[in-house]
Amino acid sequence: MPARPTPSRHVRISQDEQTIARQAAAAAAVILAEAAARQGRCAIALSGGSTPLALYRALAVSHRTTIPWAKVHVFWGDERFVPAAHLDNNSRMAQTALLDLVSCPEENIHRIPTDSGTPEAAAARYAETLRTYFGADMPAFDLLLLGVGGDGHIASLFPHSSALDVTDRTVIATVHPENASARVTLTMPVLLAARVTFVLATGAAKAPAIARALDPDTNIANCPAAGLRHSAGRVTWWLDRGAARELEGAC
Ligand code: 6PG
Repeated sequence: MPARPTPSRHVRISQDEQTIARQAAAAAAVILAEAAARQGRCAIALSGGSTPLALYRALAVSHRTTIPWAKVHVFWGDERFVPAAHLDNNSRMAQTALLDLVSCPEENIHRIPTDSGTPEAAAARYAETLRTYFGADMPAFDLLLLGVGGDGHIASLFPHSSALDVTDRTVIATVHPENASARVTLTMPVLLAARVTFVLATGAAKAPAIARALDPDTNIANCPAAGLRHSAGRVTWWLDRGAARELEGAC
């Protein structure tokens, strides 16, 4: 197993969402190409929500050939427990914005199976999918993409949730605290095992959550994104000026 990157944190503040998308896409292309060259294949975990859409489009437009898509295995960090064709389904969004436009083989696309009857069954099946790819080791994605909720959640790990304390499983079912919608999510140990994590946040509404997430004194139960300070890999926060405006010395 190649050496892990040294744990580190980087904050990149850009003028706007399109600049973030372009720069993060270029960085992602280097990471995926290098991992695929080193390992023969690589694994990316995509985020849901709206923020990564611009990044997915930038990858589809500018990185059809700079990323060896035939060697890329695509996973998700979390999923809403809705049918694959539902407008809220995270894999549907990525399929439309990215996967339909690049040559990633269908057998390399590992969706969270929301046709499993219950969120718990979907979580168990997805954990098996991870074992098939990663073996018995802790799944360590070559690149993990995350957004951040206004409450500081990442993936579907919400503040004050007992899910934050789960360490004996890689995938669990959770419930969104505001609308009680069922979710399936990677657990914190898997998020923290990623070799490289990109956290994307834009807009002033995210500024308080970002400031808390990057404050070393923040209690992780209050702001799960703060847990990323324990990542074993390199964490890059891709922010626009609005999301960064409560950071000390933000430009
Ligand atoms: C989801 C995401 C979730 C998202 C944040 C930010 O399924 O919704 O995984 O964690 O990244 O809620 O969402 P926005 O990018 O839409 O603000």
